[in-house]
Amino acid sequence: MSRFLVTGASGLLGLNLCMQISSKSEVFGIVNEVSLENTPFRVIKKNLLDLNEIKFLIDSINPDTIVHCAAMANIDKCESQPGLAYRINAELPGEIARLSQKLGIKLVHISTDAVFDGVKGNYSETDVPNPLGVYAKTKLAGENLVKDNNLDAIIARVNFYGYSVTGQRSLSEFFLNNLLNKKPMMGFTDVYFCPLFVNDLVDVLLEMVSVDLKGIFHTLSSESLSKYDFGCRIAKCFNLDQNLIKPVSVNDSNLQATRSLNLTLQTQKLSSMLNRKLPDQQTGINHLFSLYKDGYPETIKALGNH
Ligand SMILES: NC(=O)c1ccc[n+]([C@@H]2O[C@H](COP(=O)([O-])OP(=O)(O)OC[C@H]3O[C@@H](n4cnc5c(N)ncnc54)[C@H](OP(=O)(O)O)[C@@H]3O)[C@@H](O)[C@H]2O)c1
Repeated sequence: MSRFLVTGASGLLGLNLCMQISSKSEVFGIVNEVSLENTPFRVIKKNLLDLNEIKFLIDSINPDTIVHCAAMANIDKCESQPGLAYRINAELPGEIARLSQKLGIKLVHISTDAVFDGVKGNYSETDVPNPLGVYAKTKLAGENLVKDNNLDAIIARVNFYGYSVTGQRSLSEFFLNNLLNKKPMMGFTDVYFCPLFVNDLVDVLLEMVSVDLKGIFHTLSSESLSKYDFGCRIAKCFNLDQNLIKPVSVNDSNLQATRSLNLTLQTQKLSSMLNRKLPDQQTGINHLFSLYKDGYPETIKALGNH
């Protein structure tokens, strides 16, 4: 049975990953502030700001694979605490990369589509990043430190949605919660992205590990759309009232940190390595709906309800 160490196991990606792989693998999930209970995987509570902690964990767990999902992912928090953001988003992955290379452990480092400025869109892996805010700058610094320390690592640039332990973490939850409560909300018509359903993302990441990919990969949906259209697609699939979503420009919002407008990224490099197309939007949203009908959001939330 292969052994996984997953950081950020209370987060949107980390928790879904741990849940999905725990029946076939031995999983050690690292959390920080959020407590999890009754999980089908081992949970360890550690603040990884202390780099000695990660060394201790890797030495004692001795995993085959590390999936590093932990990050300071709140954009506004990164703007107000840039030093802390650098330590978590750059120094920590750099150290994990160094240790994993030394010990021959496969590393999957999770990065972001936001390393690009979103001016031209349709970015490939050979385009030069130009991150706009503190979050994106520290994530790019993290990618570079991972590359410098571990040439065998997978660096997955992602954007995803799905069900989280708080029920409020992802963009799909924002739209769904408001639609289900019949509350009007805004949807940006001029912000484009290629989000992948998190449970489909997990499958893709595992495939990337199984064929031993190395380097940077745009690990996203093969299809782009605006945030407004994304909300409307969810409304339609769940048979909810899409008129509750008001189409607006991002310039009409009061968001603090700068956002990249066109984060459409090409996925051809990854799809040719995996010999398959990455999921399109309808596939992801249909999967979101089928897990909703199966009660999966409640299962996920119950892990944090205590
Ligand atoms: N969500 C997206 O669409 C998106 C888009 C692009 C890139 N990403 C990247 O994908 C990865 C996962 O994102 P996510 O949305 O799943 O994140 P998230 O829900 O915000 O979770 C972040 C995780 O990091 C952990 N963490 C933060 N500081 C820590 C520390 N000092 N020590 C130990 N753990 C710490 C948190 O633990 P506690 O909660 O227990 O404190 C939590 O488990 C991140 O690298 C993020 O940059 C996400």
